[in-house]
Amino acid sequence: MTMEKVEAKLVRVPGEDDIQKAIKGTAHVGISQRTHEEHLKLWQGYANKTNEIRKALVDLDTDPAKANQIYSQTRALKANYAFALGGYKNHNVYFDTLGGSGGAPKGDAEAMIAEAYGSFENWAADWKTTGIAGRGWAYLAYDFEDQRVFNFIGDSQDTFPQWNCALILAMDVYEHAYYLDFATARAKYIDAWFQVIDWDAVNKRISMFRRG
Ligand SMILES: [Fe+2]
Repeated sequence: MTMEKVEAKLVRVPGEDDIQKAIKGTAHVGISQRTHEEHLKLWQGYANKTNEIRKALVDLDTDPAKANQIYSQTRALKANYAFALGGYKNHNVYFDTLGGSGGAPKGDAEAMIAEAYGSFENWAADWKTTGIAGRGWAYLAYDFEDQRVFNFIGDSQDTFPQWNCALILAMDVYEHAYYLDFATARAKYIDAWFQVIDWDAVNKRISMFRRG
């Protein structure tokens, strides 16, 4: 029996281009270029480590006798894979949906938020609360089983994600996202963030699963 190896599929590592919309679109609300430039390094780290783990998994020894729940190569690679890939994906959505004109949503995003929360104002109040209560993230995701959106709370990127959901808006509330500009005043950062949501990008994400 031959065990043919499948080459690792690698994720795209973000670059300077990927933070330009955020740099241009958030300076007026007090989120600085420096913050985004430092943040890019962390985002790149998640991408690079995702790729490193994917490459290592190609050579994983799949002898079950070597797997172990206390420590083993499989455990080390796969537990940290969730942290690396989760941190890559949530930053992809964070930077994609940042740097817009903020305010109330339009189109599908407006309809989905109204269906689940009654109004944009109700949603925004819940979102701000969720962002303050989270240790790392607030996530707006469409749940395919509920057929509704929900404001999920996130700590680290591998704590509390849900299955069968599509992430359509993400707010990073780790201190690296705002400390340089707002010190510990996270609520002020969230108020600024509301003004620069890119609802067009959110609607584009919805259209990826709504219309094929
Ligand atoms: Fe971050």
